[in-house]
Amino acid sequence: MSKTFKIAIIGAGGIANAHMAAAKDSGGRVEVVAVVDPIQESRSKLVAAAGQAADFADVDALIKARKGGLVVEGVLVCTPPSVRVKIVEKCLKAGLPVLSEKPLASTLKDAKKLASLARKYKKVPTAIGYCHRFTPALHEMNRMAASGELGTIVRFENFFACDLPGHQSKWFSDPKKAGGGAFLDMGSHSIDLFHAMIGPGKPIASVFSNKWKGRTETAATVVLKGSKKRNANIGAGVPGVIISGWAESSRFTVALVGDKAMVSYDYENPEVITVKDLLGKADVRPIKTCGVRFTDQLVAFANVVQIKANNTGLATFEDGLAAAMVGEQAAKLAKKK
Ligand SMILES: NC(=O)c1ccc[n+]([C@@H]2O[C@H](COP(=O)([O-])OP(=O)(O)OC[C@H]3O[C@@H](n4cnc5c(N)ncnc54)[C@H](O)[C@@H]3O)[C@@H](O)[C@H]2O)c1
Repeated sequence: MSKTFKIAIIGAGGIANAHMAAAKDSGGRVEVVAVVDPIQESRSKLVAAAGQAADFADVDALIKARKGGLVVEGVLVCTPPSVRVKIVEKCLKAGLPVLSEKPLASTLKDAKKLASLARKYKKVPTAIGYCHRFTPALHEMNRMAASGELGTIVRFENFFACDLPGHQSKWFSDPKKAGGGAFLDMGSHSIDLFHAMIGPGKPIASVFSNKWKGRTETAATVVLKGSKKRNANIGAGVPGVIISGWAESSRFTVALVGDKAMVSYDYENPEVITVKDLLGKADVRPIKTCGVRFTDQLVAFANVVQIKANNTGLATFEDGLAAAMVGEQAAKLAKKK
């Protein structure tokens, strides 16, 4: 076991708390030693959750303290995507590995800039937090598809939707700051999952709707079509149905549908996967909870930085750019009458 990996969290809002809990669940493998946020109250709360950590109002102060001897081996960027480019650039320039929250950026232009920064500073590890890649059930679904148990895969289905009324007054739905709505927020996870489980694809249909006047979309229904054969059972052309929503009943499900059987996972019933045959007979099998995904993602980041581990399953900035390109194409399709 490697020594403890010491990280700073930049952006002490909602998701930072999930990462703090994940670090605490890592059995000492990952420790949050610094918190950066311009809002004193936010960083103080996160420092309290850490027990003990340095805190800074901006990334320059963090980098200065590191030069002065504070040990920080990587950063976890949990800010809104619109402010990330400068932060990531400063960290990479200082030689600090970056795990950035999804989506990579709020605009395709910024996503391209970030991917080019990762190429420029290629010796400094970068990754994007498409945490669902660390959901054990999805690995099992991939294994089942590859084994032929499901037959030929005919569809990928992914619903990430729930009611988030608070988003109406937050940056999340501000068209100028967010760059997109429910589809960029939740759908970007789904696009990445399609890429990771089926392969590259293009949107062929896209419908967005908006419950909140003057804000971004609150619901998206997008159909992707795969463009490359992945294995004997996942050919080119597999369609994916992606449902994203901020103002509807909650569904967090992923399914692979084959011509022999289908397998589905429900994040709201996280310790089982269900395999159904063509007659609808269900076989409910135990599986490790999706609750491990943030911790496993942090440990993968630690392993990449400290022991130069390969094939950890972490999404790269190039994966983030690929998702951003599909997201942009889907948003354009949705605007067409
Ligand atoms: N992986 C997931 O499942 C998941 C879930 C929720 C959110 N997210 C993503 O995490 C990111 C943050 O979301 P959130 O819900 O935590 O948002 P939030 O608004 O709750 O928190 C953002 C924090 O960033 C801080 N911040 C703003 N500008 C900053 C700067 N220049 N330097 C340092 N800190 C700054 C804000 O003060 C705030 O505390 C988003 O990209 C979001 O899409 C991912």
